[in-house]
Amino acid sequence: MDSMTVFDLSVTDALLSTTRAVRKRLDLERPVPRQIINECLDLSLQAPTGSNRQGWSWIVVTDAEKRAALADLYRKGAGTYLQDAEQESAAQNGESQDTRVFSSALYLAERLQDVPVHVIPCISVDHLEENPPRAAWAGVMGSIFPAIWSFQLALRSRGLGSALTTLHLRCEDEANQLLGVPDGVMQVALLPVAYTIGTDFKPAKRPPASEITHWEQW
Ligand SMILES: Cc1cc2nc3c(=O)[nH]c(=O)nc-3n(C[C@H](O)[C@H](O)[C@H](O)COP(=O)(O)O)c2cc1C
Repeated sequence: MDSMTVFDLSVTDALLSTTRAVRKRLDLERPVPRQIINECLDLSLQAPTGSNRQGWSWIVVTDAEKRAALADLYRKGAGTYLQDAEQESAAQNGESQDTRVFSSALYLAERLQDVPVHVIPCISVDHLEENPPRAAWAGVMGSIFPAIWSFQLALRSRGLGSALTTLHLRCEDEANQLLGVPDGVMQVALLPVAYTIGTDFKPAKRPPASEITHWEQW
């Protein structure tokens, strides 16, 4: 580590480049201690929020019946989307990264109820005007997704994994009722959380930043 480097880059770069959406390699048998979830949530709350409002709340679901109900809503929300997408991708691209993603997503949809912990990040929307402009939505979503990603990084550092999912939000009203979410609060995701089977994850294939970066002007 040279004297100008603040953190050990071999560690931080590996964390940033190998924190993947984990589905097939979630360990459905190993219990997750409450303490670990609390620790990772405490770290996630260091994330930035618009106006330093910190309008976030988190629902952690371990109750088996509630997880089953959430999994039902997730599948209802998904409809045939995942099957259709997997078939279409397999027909067009064969065994590509996209085909693997949809196969993995289908696996998760079938087993979501068995993932030991469901974490649902929520954000306050009670300050939003009617039909908010796009800038307001940027403020709302931008005030919870940094924390979600920090939570996922903290999990990965401790040998756990998760996948950011949103399909149950298509049944938002039913999910609000199930979880007692008050008016003025919006669920933004559902993160199935478990220990991972093995801890070796690889960077994904992504096009180089140079292809999508515009210096000084678009
Ligand atoms: C806004 C958002 C919504 C997502 N919704 C879902 C989802 O409902 N179900 C799912 O299995 N994955 C979902 N994902 C995960 C993506 O499929 C995943 O990030 C992508 O396949 C790339 O894989 P990687 O994260 O391992 O690089 C979502 C990701 C984002 C950012």
